[in-house]
Amino acid sequence: MYTQSEYQIIKATLKNIPDICVLERTIFTKELQKSELESQLNNPLFYFGLLKLRESFIGYYQMVIIEGEAELYQIGVEEKFRGQGLGDLLIKHLLNELEKLHIRKVFLDVKSTNVIAIKFYEKYGFKRLGIRSSYYNMGEDALILERDFNGVVYKKK
Ligand SMILES: CC(C)(COP(=O)(O)OP(=O)(O)OC[C@H]1O[C@@H](n2cnc3c(N)ncnc32)[C@H](O)[C@@H]1OP(=O)(O)O)[C@@H](O)C(=O)NCCC(=O)NCCS
Repeated sequence: MYTQSEYQIIKATLKNIPDICVLERTIFTKELQKSELESQLNNPLFYFGLLKLRESFIGYYQMVIIEGEAELYQIGVEEKFRGQGLGDLLIKHLLNELEKLHIRKVFLDVKSTNVIAIKFYEKYGFKRLGIRSSYYNMGEDALILERDFNGVVYKKK
């Protein structure tokens, strides 16, 4: 376990584009287009949370918030730091941010074979809403998970 002085979770800005690209590559083995990331970071509907442990960024989440509902696109921790409670810190931060915005629901897609992530989401109250058959490359199914906050409607200022 880490103490609060060792980590922080910040909302990413344009200057974090290189940090997000590295995390996306190491955690999800995907190459992000900097231009796409730039337009997302400039878009107030997108929210990136970055987990900094001591001096390094080692995890992040990406979500989009539209009309009182959120969709979680990515959440991940670098492999060598997994299993130490850091994913817990990230998702608690994310849920807390959504509660502050009075979001009603958050949705996500997860590979039906990603048992660790499914367990992780279930720990935080996500429930199965449906399946998208052969959604991913290689024909893997996606589970659609939902978490209901029972909150009030988020009103944009
Ligand atoms: C899912 C992920 C973010 C969890 O992060 P983590 O830092 O390893 O998680 P934590 O150590 O905080 O554990 C949180 C919970 O996740 C689940 N979990 C984590 N590792 C697990 C494992 N090896 N087996 C089963 N459940 C596990 C458990 O519910 C755990 O809670 P518990 O310790 O009370 O049992 C991480 O595994 C990851 O980055 N995976 C790759 C990316 C990914 O698949 N993201 C989700 C799809 S977008």
